[in-house]
Amino acid sequence: MIASLLKRYDRQIPRYTSYPTAPQFHDGIDARTYAHWLSELGDKDTLSLYFHVPFCAEMCWFCGCHTKVSRRYDPIAAYVRHMLAEIDLVADAVTSSPPITSAHWGGGSPTKLEPDDFRRLMARARDRFVFAENAEIAVEIDPRTLTPDFTSAMREAGVNRASIGVQDFDSRVQSAINRVQSYELVRETARAVRAAGIDALNFDLIYGLPYQTVESIERSVDLAVSLNPNRLSVFGYAHVPWMKSHQKMIPDEVLPDNLLRFEQREALGARLVEHGYRQIGLDHFARPDDEMAVTLDEGGLRRNFQGYTVDDATALIGIGASSIGCLRQGYVQNHVPMKAYGDAIEAGQLPIARGVALSEDDRIRGSIIERLMCELAVDLSEYGGVEPWHAEMRALEPFEDDRIVRVIGSRIEVTELGRPFLRLICAVFDAYLAPEIARYSQAI
Ligand SMILES: C[S@@+](CC[C@H](N)C(=O)[O-])C[C@H]1O[C@@H](n2cnc3c(N)ncnc32)[C@H](O)[C@@H]1O
Ligand code: SF4
Repeated sequence: MIASLLKRYDRQIPRYTSYPTAPQFHDGIDARTYAHWLSELGDKDTLSLYFHVPFCAEMCWFCGCHTKVSRRYDPIAAYVRHMLAEIDLVADAVTSSPPITSAHWGGGSPTKLEPDDFRRLMARARDRFVFAENAEIAVEIDPRTLTPDFTSAMREAGVNRASIGVQDFDSRVQSAINRVQSYELVRETARAVRAAGIDALNFDLIYGLPYQTVESIERSVDLAVSLNPNRLSVFGYAHVPWMKSHQKMIPDEVLPDNLLRFEQREALGARLVEHGYRQIGLDHFARPDDEMAVTLDEGGLRRNFQGYTVDDATALIGIGASSIGCLRQGYVQNHVPMKAYGDAIEAGQLPIARGVALSEDDRIRGSIIERLMCELAVDLSEYGGVEPWHAEMRALEPFEDDRIVRVIGSRIEVTELGRPFLRLICAVFDAYLAPEIARYSQAI
């Protein structure tokens, strides 16, 4: 049954961290558009900041992020100067005082920054924006690069959430992905971060990696859970060597096929549920008393470029190369190449490369897709009833026959069997999807 579903639905589908998705972004949206959009923010808005640090100590062969290895600090120091200048450029363009309710540091590895540079950047952000008293401030941590001084810098800057890249604990898997880090290192990292008062911890795990088996994954889950993270993000390895050439170090032959990936995903989820975690959306797990689980029950869970979030800010501002911002009017993305990003900043310009303005249809479809991604359900009565969605309802019929979806009047529910196929259901509402144009990673 599952094997036949996997075969039939083996398509490449976006992860829907935005709608429209990135392939729709175009260079007609530029620095001027962004400056105008920023000027329309008001005091009633709330802001979320995303800082991208595209540097790592070493390249993990599986990595799909915008990052590079830098052994010298000079390029990183120059990048920090550019980020500082970008904070100023953005702050100058915002004419009101919307509070920052959340800030997220991702990458790459923010822990690759000199602690004083992290302090400087946070100080500049606090200087130029008003942070809400209870703002969530989160940092992604590569345990191999975290130093005691960086941990102190995080404490001083008010960081209250950390996400640790764990991936897998099996040594054979770790060697095959060039990501060797011991259980003891992760344990010490979690201990040090908690000792600094940062007690909301997320771990990232990956399945679908070379040499993983159901048993090895269950062992990794048990080890991860022994460190008691509040949340876990569980990603299926996205193998896109045509976009990330270092992934060629992972030969196709050592990768599990779709059915094995599915079994690993199921085993991982089941083990986490046995340990008392709740599954959230496509790929998150949280303790039942965690804010993410509570927010899901209250209907407030959101999805953005960092995945699932409890952040309800009305605008997201991205700082750093490749960062994506989301405003009421549309999406913007900074230049991805570090040089183009730096050149724009040096010329005193907001470093926007592309973006997309939202039409009313985009907003409606984006909202339906977000509800499905978060709650696995949507009621079309909130979107004009089923009549305007005639074509989509027809497209859902094969999924209903396969018991992936249940339709009750105007309500569409993705079943537990359908959870792994969630992106496919969302794709029904994606007016742009043309698989021959964009190449995404596997849907499962
Ligand atoms: C920016 S990294 C996290 C912080 C830090 N750089 C680290 O690796 O510890 C973001 C996360 O994305 C996930 N990730 C990266 N490349 C991926 C890929 N190709 N497929 C699935 N997940 C991936 C990993 O779980 C990784 O921890
Ligand atoms: S997974 Fe994290 S540490 Fe590894 S290369 Fe990617 S961003 Fe860097």
